[in-house]
Amino acid sequence: MKKVITYGSFDLFHEGHYNLLKRAKELGDTLIVGVTTEQYDVYRGKMNVVDSLMRRIDNVRQTGFADEIIIEDHEGQKVEDIQKYGVNIFVLGSDWRGKYDYLKEYCEVVYLDRTKDISSSKLRDERHGLVRLGIVGTGRIAERFMQETKFVSGLITSSVYNPRFESAKRFGECFELSYFFDEYEKYLDDVDAVYIATPHGTHYDYARRALIAGKHVLCEKPMVLSELEARELFDIASENALVLMEAVKTAYSPGFINLLAIARGGRIGTVYDVEAAFTKLTDNLPGAREYDPVVGGSFTELASYSLLPVVKLLGHDYRDISFESFTAENGVDIYAKAHLTYAGAVATAKTGIGVKSEGQLLISGTKGYILVKSPWWLLKSFEVCYEIPDDNETFSAPFPGFGLRFELADFVRNITHPTGRNFKFSKDDSVCVAGIIEKFLRRAGRQA
Ligand code: CTP
Repeated sequence: MKKVITYGSFDLFHEGHYNLLKRAKELGDTLIVGVTTEQYDVYRGKMNVVDSLMRRIDNVRQTGFADEIIIEDHEGQKVEDIQKYGVNIFVLGSDWRGKYDYLKEYCEVVYLDRTKDISSSKLRDERHGLVRLGIVGTGRIAERFMQETKFVSGLITSSVYNPRFESAKRFGECFELSYFFDEYEKYLDDVDAVYIATPHGTHYDYARRALIAGKHVLCEKPMVLSELEARELFDIASENALVLMEAVKTAYSPGFINLLAIARGGRIGTVYDVEAAFTKLTDNLPGAREYDPVVGGSFTELASYSLLPVVKLLGHDYRDISFESFTAENGVDIYAKAHLTYAGAVATAKTGIGVKSEGQLLISGTKGYILVKSPWWLLKSFEVCYEIPDDNETFSAPFPGFGLRFELADFVRNITHPTGRNFKFSKDDSVCVAGIIEKFLRRAGRQA
């Protein structure tokens, strides 16, 4: 009695899946098929799976080849399954050749040739058409972003813009983009959507011109430095049925979404206090973006993160806000603290580029508290703590790579499946944060 096992997402079930299962079954007497959960797919870098887990299981079942269907939800499960079910042959398609040779210690490993010219990714792309995404800016964050785009289906990154042609060309060649532009309007003709990763002070203009040209916009944080500008951009986007999103990566990460659900679900009781800090020591070198006298400083640089849990948990209607800050010689804040008072809660958001502090997030409630250790904004795990330490719980979630793939996957999904809603970091969240940054700058006697 030979037992065969194979695994996959089996999204948008296609001929390649059918052929693979058929041949896998022919290798033995019993076939076990492991179907991945959506969370596990995200963990292993597969975004935008379309079919629900139940539908994917149903499709596998309907082939009649699977004698047993199991769920695959974690790394390392394959070894457990091989032992648990007494598997003799482990089968996968040839795209995985070599990757699972380590399982030869437990059973025979067979890679079957893939069916040519078909894949779930291809079907997903064909279904909704590819979003042609252009990159505006060629700095470090844009480089990181490019590395993340390969994990998100439904888009093609074909061009880059930089007002200095040489920089656009260098970036374009490095990431094998077909086009590089130094003329913005011409560049916009070539794309459906843009990702703006330029210095803060230029976001508003680039975003506005892109929206007016009918392009969807994903803009790095802080999107703008005033409430009015934020409102104006969202108005243009909504009048033209365009997606406008602020790229606060943590807001889109599975761990943060889970944390919000736990905090809002009452596990730590009523939330009375949210304290978040983000400091990143940066040298005050000539020309350093972080020390720009107009738009630089720790608060413009980092407050989008520190304010994120505050606005998501306590909302936008704070009663009072005050700031404390210390500045460099050119008047730019090297360390800042915002204190927000709500009807039934308080919050503190700390930022620093010239002062180092513990970068943690602490949410205090009537039944317990949630602690996310530094660096909380790259949220991989958090603890829910109670009066009795033995009751404490730890939650974890994937935060692969630079963590930008989640916001990008949402951006593409919002374009291809328009709902007009982006609850993870909404228009109101963006407007509120822009308003707080504006207040900070005004009270510091600066105005961007
Ligand atoms: N497979 C195959 N031939 C294809 C596509 C997939 O033999 N043309 C195999 C894979 O190698 C794997 C199994 O089918 O063993 C399940 O693959 P899955 O990752 O679900 O399908 P893909 O179409 O490769 O999905 P994606 O494009 O999302 O990577």
